[in-house]
Amino acid sequence: MALFDWNFAALGAWVGGLLWVLLDTWRAWRLLQVLRTGAAALPARGAGLWGELAERIRHQLSARDRQARQAETRLAEFLAAIQASPHGVVLLDEQGRIEWCNQTAAAQFGIDPERDLLQHLSNLVRNPAFVAYLASWNYSRDVVIDAPASALARRGAPVRLSVQVHPYAGNRRMLLMRDITALEQAEAMRRDFVANVSHEIRTPLTVLAGFVETLQNLPLSPEERARYLTLMGQQSQRMETLVNDLLTLSRLEGNAPPPAHQWTPVRALIAHCEEEARGLSGRLGTRPHRLSLEIDVDSELGGAPVELQSAMSNLLCNAVRYTPGGGAIEVRWQLLSDGRAEYVVQDSGPGIAAEHLPRLTERFYRIDRSRSRETGGTGLGLAIVKHVAQRHGAELRIESRVGEGSRFSLVFPTARVRPRRPVGVSA
Ligand SMILES: Nc1ncnc2c1ncn2[C@@H]1O[C@H](COP(=O)(O)OP(=O)(O)O)[C@@H](O)[C@H]1O
Ligand SMILES: [Mg+2]
Repeated sequence: MALFDWNFAALGAWVGGLLWVLLDTWRAWRLLQVLRTGAAALPARGAGLWGELAERIRHQLSARDRQARQAETRLAEFLAAIQASPHGVVLLDEQGRIEWCNQTAAAQFGIDPERDLLQHLSNLVRNPAFVAYLASWNYSRDVVIDAPASALARRGAPVRLSVQVHPYAGNRRMLLMRDITALEQAEAMRRDFVANVSHEIRTPLTVLAGFVETLQNLPLSPEERARYLTLMGQQSQRMETLVNDLLTLSRLEGNAPPPAHQWTPVRALIAHCEEEARGLSGRLGTRPHRLSLEIDVDSELGGAPVELQSAMSNLLCNAVRYTPGGGAIEVRWQLLSDGRAEYVVQDSGPGIAAEHLPRLTERFYRIDRSRSRETGGTGLGLAIVKHVAQRHGAELRIESRVGEGSRFSLVFPTARVRPRRPVGVSA
């Protein structure tokens, strides 16, 4: 009986142990199965060793997932920041293939940020100077190239690019691109301007030097001397006018915006213009011009009086300069229906061909160089007028046709115009 009991107990223990091992194996197999299919399916914390194991694995896997998501977000943020850059950025892998580029670079190089991924950049941008630069691995300076034709098509104007490569992480490369079209244009304008100024100053200087030499070397009668001195005076006067106009321009560029609440009577401004114009007309030595002035509404103009005077005089003096003696010139101040006010100078001169109109306000742009010089023009007058107009929020309008005279006008915004206050009443 005891022996039987003993055997029975041993069998029971054996079966129990077997069952335990089987259960354990089943749990291990299930865990393995779940890990194979995906950690998200891990069961909630179960009992025993396997439960603990599953829990820890789940913990670590979800921490790793979180880190990966964070890293992805940060990468996306970095790329968004580079995307927002006004400069083009291209990342190249070790073989020189495009790994990533921002929209700016895509537009500047005329490439497609998705379709052209993993393409060799030198196959897409074939400018010889650029290809040689990329292959040189000497990136101490930038290379300046014309943007490829595919990029030009998008912008509709020639684009100059400065490209500089910065190697990183071994043999990878980052390209930074800047659109330097405007910079190069400004530089060219500056060079032209300096050349023009030098030329304009040298011409009267050469004439003056010639007269000085003549006076020194030739025995001259007192009348001849006087005549030469008058001519010399004219040349030095011309240089002075030029320097004054240059100074006016540079003041206009560098000065604070004109005051909004300094008011000058339009009548006084126009009277001053008239005086200058009659003086000029007299000096030109031809028949005097027929000048008519008309002020529709007595107004005051807000802004810098010296600038306003200079702009208005310039327009009237131009009319006198370019209209033959005896010609009619009308000056008018009128309110427009929208509340703005217009200063108009209309002449009966030769008129201006359409192709010159857009360029008239460029510095030193003249249609008839000798007429301008003879009458004391510097070629800077309309550039000054345009500047003054911009600073006062006004618009310079030019209408002209060959043979039909010209109409120059300044349209001032309502904020700069008010009715004339009777004397003694302050603003
Ligand atoms: N009222 C006008 N009639 C005809 N041509 C004009 C008139 N005003 C200006 N122009 C032309 O525009 C050019 C530029 O004018 P501006 O800038 O004042 O320089 P300038 O010192 O030569 O007068 C002049 O040289 C002239 O050819
Ligand atoms: Mg002028």
